[in-house]
Amino acid sequence: MIKADVVIIGSGLASLMAADILSVTKNVIIITKSSVTDSNSVLAQGGIAAAISGDDDWRDHFFDTIRAGCYHNDETMTEFLVRQGPSVIDSLINKGIDFDRCKDGSYALGKEGAHSRRRILHSGGDATGKELVMKLLARVKEKTTIIEHEFAIDILIQNRTCIGVYTKNSEERKTTYIAPSVILATGGIGQLYEVTSNSEQATGDGIAMAYRAGATIADMEFVQFHPTMLVKSSKGIGLVSEAVRGEGARIVTEKGDFLMAGKHPLEDLAPRDVVARAINEHLCKNELLYLDISNIEHFTTRFPSIATMCEKASIDLKHHRIPIAPGAHFMMGGVVTNEKGETSIPGLYAVGEVARTGVHGANRLASNSLLECVVFAAEIAKEILRKQQISSFFVPATEKATREIGHLPSELEIKEVMTKGVGIVRTRQSLKEALSWFTTYRFAMLHLKNFTTTLEQQKICNMLTVGYLIALAAWERTESRGGHYRTDYPNSHERKWKHKTIYFSGGSEKPLVTTNCQEKLSV
Ligand code: SIN
Repeated sequence: MIKADVVIIGSGLASLMAADILSVTKNVIIITKSSVTDSNSVLAQGGIAAAISGDDDWRDHFFDTIRAGCYHNDETMTEFLVRQGPSVIDSLINKGIDFDRCKDGSYALGKEGAHSRRRILHSGGDATGKELVMKLLARVKEKTTIIEHEFAIDILIQNRTCIGVYTKNSEERKTTYIAPSVILATGGIGQLYEVTSNSEQATGDGIAMAYRAGATIADMEFVQFHPTMLVKSSKGIGLVSEAVRGEGARIVTEKGDFLMAGKHPLEDLAPRDVVARAINEHLCKNELLYLDISNIEHFTTRFPSIATMCEKASIDLKHHRIPIAPGAHFMMGGVVTNEKGETSIPGLYAVGEVARTGVHGANRLASNSLLECVVFAAEIAKEILRKQQISSFFVPATEKATREIGHLPSELEIKEVMTKGVGIVRTRQSLKEALSWFTTYRFAMLHLKNFTTTLEQQKICNMLTVGYLIALAAWERTESRGGHYRTDYPNSHERKWKHKTIYFSGGSEKPLVTTNCQEKLSV
């Protein structure tokens, strides 16, 4: 048994940010199921959104966020997030992050879908996530213990409080970690779908573990599909950042027609759910779609990682066309947390994509995820430092499971069921079928502790649990909103939310209706 002040599961940006602050005075252990640099954060090509320019305002960022989120956002949390933007950027600069600049020395602010302003900061062109992770990792490495290739199996609960976690390494050897604070930073769920921008590790383990431990989970029906994944022979190769469309690329048909013309006022930069559905509808007719990059100067310098990815996939950029299709990108739901990152289980925190802070509503605004990681990781760290936590638990011996788990489906079967049944477009019938398929495996979700499992079986059980939760939430939400689209309830959210009243904190501040807001959001 190993004791620590804080155990963090996962090694992406949120984990490293929390570890950087906590490890000054706390004994922090980071546990990751693969290598420390294998995370969705490292793959993040987009940047970090913050209202830092002279003509921007956090209120505009707020409105863009809730409009993209189809007004399903927790407004207090969203306000907190966007107000923190500028100071978070300062804190990252103080930690040594170099954000890209223009020739005149000012920050080069990019534009992405559904933003009314240029407000995205990048580092290393299209490698912001990687730059942030590598810089923070260099700071954290000396101060924390990082354990790689160890799979967190379950959260340990005593008297309804989280007291630690138990893990298995690649030889299936168990270790128990005891800590008064456990932070889930396990990332997303993209691997439940056939095409995804996510790292291979994104199998929803944190959500499944928290669910088994009895934590509150919400908004699982809201899965964001990124419109532009590079695809070859129907296989997802990797993400083509929305920043590419922000710089002028257009989605075109084989004939060269602009797909998004007339479909939304923001055309190619419409919210992701709108663009992804338009692309999906076109692809269903067995026609191909491309990203036309002909009007982007110096593409390979501005987007070096994407250019390399295209080259590796033998896409000749001289033709200025990148073949695209949508892919699962981001889970808006997850383990419910408050503004301090606390879950419904004392001692258990969640941050980053695994958490449902409420800031993304039904559809995340581009480049708000790295912001969320940094803002809420800092809040969790503050909260843990504030609390005087002593781990004085009696740790009972874990009961030995003796029963074989029996037949489980393969990862590919789960991906197929999710893509067909609970994908970009959901029908009553597709949801019914998916839900009934998942229900067959409820034994593997509910009574997992009773069974002996290999690491592979454990991962499958986690994927089944998360798939079931997504299918169930999608079945129960009888409307379409953001990332959740049902053909039997199309566009029903618009009617309900047309006249929404927003009050900001601080009393005196009135709702702001900017010229950029399409909807009138006022008292
Ligand atoms: C992208 O670069 O298009 C993805 C960024 C994000 O999801 O915020």
